[in-house]
Amino acid sequence: MRHWTAVVGPCRRPGRIGVQCGRASPAEFGVEAIWPVGFTPAWQAARPVAAFGGGGGAGNGGRRLMTVQQLRGFSLPEEGELVAVDVAGTAVAVTVLDGEVHAFDDTCPHAGCSLADGELDEQDVVCPCHFARFDITTGAVVEGSATSGVGIWSATFTAGTLELEGPRSEAPAPELSSAPAPAPGSSAPPTSGPDRDITVLIEREHESFRRQFDMLPGLTDSQELEQAWDALVDLLEIHASGEEFVLYPSVVHAAEHPAQEAEHGVRDHNEIRDSVRVVQERTVGSAPWWQAVRTVEAANEQHLQEEERDVLPSLRDNTDRERREALGQQWLTFHADHEGARGLSGKDANPQAVLDRPADL
Ligand code: FES
Repeated sequence: MRHWTAVVGPCRRPGRIGVQCGRASPAEFGVEAIWPVGFTPAWQAARPVAAFGGGGGAGNGGRRLMTVQQLRGFSLPEEGELVAVDVAGTAVAVTVLDGEVHAFDDTCPHAGCSLADGELDEQDVVCPCHFARFDITTGAVVEGSATSGVGIWSATFTAGTLELEGPRSEAPAPELSSAPAPAPGSSAPPTSGPDRDITVLIEREHESFRRQFDMLPGLTDSQELEQAWDALVDLLEIHASGEEFVLYPSVVHAAEHPAQEAEHGVRDHNEIRDSVRVVQERTVGSAPWWQAVRTVEAANEQHLQEEERDVLPSLRDNTDRERREALGQQWLTFHADHEGARGLSGKDANPQAVLDRPADL
């Protein structure tokens, strides 16, 4: 899977510039820098996307404008391979199925993960985070918790140029929308599809957080901003509670300094929860609100980096793959049971209670 976004400008997050990510060479596009898809610096909304020609290229501020864009020097993905491109601030996934180019919204409507990181299963794309399935010909939800489908783009490829027009169809409602939400404890996530090692699933959700924080500044409508923030807060709480329920009790039995790492993680979660509460007291979109949001982002980013550096590698080193996949299944079940933060209080967790919880596996 490859991610391509071509814009001109410096990276504000060390190590995340596309050139250093090794996704592609900027020389291929004749631009100064290439960014990972989903990285949307605030100033991008006011600048052209350098590699694209045709229908303008200014950022759309999160709005779904019908647009035509061309990406020159594009290498068509292999049959069944997924790549992501950036169309004026909107991430679009591209693939080839039975020799035909298909394009659809890359951002999963469930919780913001990149569908290009997922897998193609016949004409369905399976999201890598919680395994929702979308039909790439219609955009409809085939399976999973997403409450809407994905928009479909028209895609043509001629002489090294990919032309995208869209969205050709808006995101449809789920085919299974009339089905009742599963009761807690009854959810049974599918057992096939993308990697379900818990350390991989957690890292994917980390990337979703980064994408969602990066996209907030592009939302100029206060109602859209509030909805995006509320969804992000729900996911932060599900993620934190899921780690306290599934991950940390297992870390305690696996890491070199388990109690310290798990306790430190719970205290980080509580700090993030405290900073979220400050945001909720402020007017959405106001300067104090943005300031508080940035505090949450900074606390969260520090925690993500510590987990990626210490906790997750430690779990990989000290547990076998079968157990990590079993934990991943628990992780997915926890998410399904607590969709929309259902049943989670958002209150601070007691580190000792988390450490005392027996690991289920
Ligand atoms: S983010 Fe895609 S299924 Fe959850």
